[in-house]
Amino acid sequence: MLANQCIAANGRFIVVLSGGSTPAALYRRLGHIKTDWQRWHIYFGDERYLPAGHPERNDTLARQTWLDHVPIPAAQIYAVPYAGSVYAAAAAYDALLAQTPRFDLVLLGLGEDGHTASLFPGPAAHANGLLYTIAVSDAPKPPAERISMNTQRLSEADAVWFLITGESKRKALTEWISGNDLPPCHIAPEGGVDIFTDLDVSP
Ligand code: 6PG
Repeated sequence: MLANQCIAANGRFIVVLSGGSTPAALYRRLGHIKTDWQRWHIYFGDERYLPAGHPERNDTLARQTWLDHVPIPAAQIYAVPYAGSVYAAAAAYDALLAQTPRFDLVLLGLGEDGHTASLFPGPAAHANGLLYTIAVSDAPKPPAERISMNTQRLSEADAVWFLITGESKRKALTEWISGNDLPPCHIAPEGGVDIFTDLDVSP
């Protein structure tokens, strides 16, 4: 298993979790694997700008289905802060990521419009001086205010896995692999990305 290989090689496993509902089934299963949880470091590819514990936060789903049920040290679960404004929260996470090594694994989903994390089709949001995150205030998928890692930081990973299920994603997935300019196209780790899907699609 990738996590145990990374722990054996590097003494730690640094993983970025996806938001949305698709990963819930995976998160529930992860609670039953044999691993050294003390070596896991958890980041979030994006987060909704909502107070800690809010049911619509991405880390809330991960905690309820998995993280609250395994002994990963709390200090190694790096939640996106709810800090004064969506920009202040993005800036705080940006500063954390500046001190964060390359990721071992990034998990991502795909929205029906082709978004991933909180990177939506259309003109890229302004960086506003941030290197690794963006503050989103007009997300088409509610809630409107979000913090997201940018494509460059999501690409600084040894493995990037997209988890995509359901007929509603067929159009976006087909457009993506057919070469349409969608946010997932700009996530380009050296080793490429892997797509895990129940859909039978071709370019
Ligand atoms: C979010 C997610 C988002 C999600 C896709 C798919 O905060 O909403 O990060 O990018 O992964 O919208 O969502 P579902 O898995 O719920 O279809």
